[in-house]
Amino acid sequence: MEFKFGQWLIRNYSYDDKLSLIKYANDPEVAENLLDSFPHPYTESDADYWLNFVHNQDICTNFALADSVELIGAIGLVLHKGQRYGTANIGYWLGKPFWGKGIMSQALKYMTTFAFEKYELRKIYAEVFEGNIGSMRVLEKAGYTLEATFKKHFIKFEKEIDCLIYSIFREDMKV
Ligand SMILES: CC(C)(COP(=O)(O)OP(=O)(O)OC[C@H]1O[C@@H](n2cnc3c(N)ncnc32)[C@H](O)[C@@H]1OP(=O)(O)O)[C@@H](O)C(=O)NCCC(=O)NCCS
Repeated sequence: MEFKFGQWLIRNYSYDDKLSLIKYANDPEVAENLLDSFPHPYTESDADYWLNFVHNQDICTNFALADSVELIGAIGLVLHKGQRYGTANIGYWLGKPFWGKGIMSQALKYMTTFAFEKYELRKIYAEVFEGNIGSMRVLEKAGYTLEATFKKHFIKFEKEIDCLIYSIFREDMKV
């Protein structure tokens, strides 16, 4: 998959993304709003693990955000099975030098449409930590709405964190 918007790109990962992945992912300000499955510090072996994982996915649901030079972030979905079939959790992050340029707003809009077209989904949702105003705004601009707040749902860096669920349904998208 490849989608170009302005000078930015959503594309498949390459093993060559390793150094940029470590450079931008290994940042406490990026990690603080993500689950611990996104490790901090973000080491070379974390990057190796992740690049092997995405290259071996049966259904590719994880993509790199890039400029013409290198990976600058990522966006991806977890497709649920069993009784949650038809739902997916979307997640994303961007290297700090690229924040505030409108990149994720555009990337999330595209990925949401792409995901409803490509996978058999009824609903996509994101889990947002309390206080992550940037992510809430990105979701709202892509048509997601606040569905629920789970109080003190996560522990991050030894603090209890509320989790805000933002969701969008296929019928909201007309795809
Ligand atoms: C959250 C994140 C993805 C936002 O991406 P971004 O490309 O910087 O966002 P955009 O530039 O598209 O901004 C979208 C809107 O949010 C606002 N915004 C972005 N960051 C903000 C912040 N920290 N505080 C307040 N508003 C913010 C922008 O002003 C913009 O609003 P507008 O269009 O009404 O002017 C990015 O900051 C990031 O990767 N953070 C760390 C990881 C993370 O939080 N991931 C999401 C987990 S749910």
